[in-house]
Amino acid sequence: MSTSTALYEGKAKRVFPTDDPDQVLFEYKDDATAFNGVKHETFSGKGELNNRLSAHLLQAVARAGVPTHFIRLVSERQQLCRKVEIIPLEVILRNRAAGSMAKRLGLDEGTPLKTTVVEYSYKNDALGDPLIAADHAVAIGAATFAEIGVMERCTRVVNRILGQLFLDVGIELIDFKLEFGRTASGEVVLADEISPDTCRLWDVTTSERFDKDRFRKDLAPLLEGYREVLRRLEAQEGVSQ
Ligand code: TMP
Repeated sequence: MSTSTALYEGKAKRVFPTDDPDQVLFEYKDDATAFNGVKHETFSGKGELNNRLSAHLLQAVARAGVPTHFIRLVSERQQLCRKVEIIPLEVILRNRAAGSMAKRLGLDEGTPLKTTVVEYSYKNDALGDPLIAADHAVAIGAATFAEIGVMERCTRVVNRILGQLFLDVGIELIDFKLEFGRTASGEVVLADEISPDTCRLWDVTTSERFDKDRFRKDLAPLLEGYREVLRRLEAQEGVSQ
């Protein structure tokens, strides 16, 4: 655990400064929240699992050429990352209707889509992270059109890479949320985390949920799902080495 004062504390992470002004330490907490923090529980070991899962997934997309903030794992719940200014948008990609999209449009969870959906939410807890158009994001100065273009292209590459990586271990990537940031030089890079907190992950044959919906909807013990994802990914890695 770091002893310096956090630069930022979110619901599931803390970010600490380092001696290098261009690098920060991400520390994953054991907390899980849902519905804008209204539902909250602590799960011993969640921070370690998400630290490992997020490192694994960020490295996989980096190998495919997507620039990310990840540098290296530092400890069981900490990773060293490039310091970025977070762009206040959540970029969500959906391969099937689920969650808020299913609810908003009156669709069954898991309904197939005729096209992949990329959507944006404005990161603002007071407003409840509202769904916005890309034009809104530019209009309020959250990002430029050029940055939106970079984020959307990266998000589609992430979908291709992680969709296949998960399919190889019998998991379907239903949807996910990404965040991006600007480095000191203005480069837009993938930031934050990729984990079962930020993706919907369903077993290909049984449709069992391995992600945070286990907690959001009280479906099943949370960490058993996260452990299963990590177990399958690590087993697959062992095979491919
Ligand atoms: P949604 O269907 O609730 O809009 O969620 C879409 C995806 O985004 C899903 O994979 C979960 C993820 N997500 C986050 O990572 N953080 C959030 O605050 C929310 C609401 C969703």
